[in-house]
Amino acid sequence: MSLALCHTPYGDFQLAPFPARHREQLKGWCAADLLLLESAAALGLQGSALLVVNDAHGALCCALQPLAHWTDSKLSQRAMLRNQQRNGLVATPVVWSVDDPPAASVAVMRIPKQLDYLVYQLQALGRALPEGALLLAAGMDKHLSPRSAELIERYFGPTQRHRGQKKARVFSARNSRSGSSAHDSDPDHAATAGSVEATAQYLCEPAGGVLTSRPNVFSGQGLDQGSRLLLQHLHRVHPAQVCIDLACGNGVLGLAAFRQKLAQRVLFCDESALAVACARDNARRLYDHERDAFDFVHADGLNTITRASAQLVLCNPPFHRGHTLDTFTGQRLVRQCARHLPANGQLLMVTNNHLPYLPLLRRHFTVAERVGADRRYDVLLARQ
Ligand SMILES: C[S@@+](CC[C@H](N)C(=O)[O-])C[C@H]1O[C@@H](n2cnc3c(N)ncnc32)[C@H](O)[C@@H]1O
Repeated sequence: MSLALCHTPYGDFQLAPFPARHREQLKGWCAADLLLLESAAALGLQGSALLVVNDAHGALCCALQPLAHWTDSKLSQRAMLRNQQRNGLVATPVVWSVDDPPAASVAVMRIPKQLDYLVYQLQALGRALPEGALLLAAGMDKHLSPRSAELIERYFGPTQRHRGQKKARVFSARNSRSGSSAHDSDPDHAATAGSVEATAQYLCEPAGGVLTSRPNVFSGQGLDQGSRLLLQHLHRVHPAQVCIDLACGNGVLGLAAFRQKLAQRVLFCDESALAVACARDNARRLYDHERDAFDFVHADGLNTITRASAQLVLCNPPFHRGHTLDTFTGQRLVRQCARHLPANGQLLMVTNNHLPYLPLLRRHFTVAERVGADRRYDVLLARQ
């Protein structure tokens, strides 16, 4: 167990990351969290006037006990709840990224990796927070874009860059965009919380038409090379009554399976609220007359689906965990599939060819083989 004591100006908290592997090396907080907490404490901030944004593992919410946590990530919510429970704290209510953030006089934010998502969040905060509201935003130097300060200034208000500490940096800004409408947004970035405007789109023949995207959704500008390879090998699976598009992103794999009549029903699942919303947009637009054939679940993989419900799972698993290259999340999803699928149930997945997924599949499934490959990717088919 990777539980460790995190010393903050608000007290000490036992924190662990989630998910955590056996003998996890990662901590449940980073220097950017501590810098934010020190900046907030210096201003005497705590409690229901505060909104926390993008708390990775709950360190900010444990210390600040804010009005709400505005996030896209089911994994982050699970991490926060576990850490609050371990420390005997009340659970912070979560507001998902697809909804507007609640009005608060201060927002304490971990700056997200995707710039389109940062812009989306800044625009929504600018509209929702009162004029003059304070934003404290921090990130690790190696993850910050040279454009972070400029974007905060443009989409939220006058911004100050503060001293760095332990390779982390904090910015503060005052809201000058209060009440601005969704249409005042920058033409480069049309996405707005609460509205469903898409940020990008591309034509995907196998899925049956144009796929739109939303901020923070994987491969919004074009079909990922790994997903393309998997689609070339879709015909390898037996048709199923129900298919799960696991870690669905914009829904491309499940929509293609549906179009090719490999599944009568498709359940789309992702840990990102915006990804699930994006898959729903695409399913409704392309197959509106068959909308009853689709279900959408915002969840950490199959963890909330207790009974076997599908005979086929399609998956292009995540290769990152936050900012780090990592196979742990993908391996967890494979193990969930092995538990979920009934006898003869199939998992078709695409993986980077240097990653050891085939031995893992062979350990957890009755048979597993490579059915396709290119220079970078393998397509693997496993059956129970
Ligand atoms: C490589 S992308 C694949 C997206 C889409 N299937 C495609 O082929 O374009 C991986 C997706 O996994 C999602 N993801 C990561 N961890 C997850 C988890 N524990 N449960 C569900 N989805 C997860 C990410 O949000 C991301 O959308």
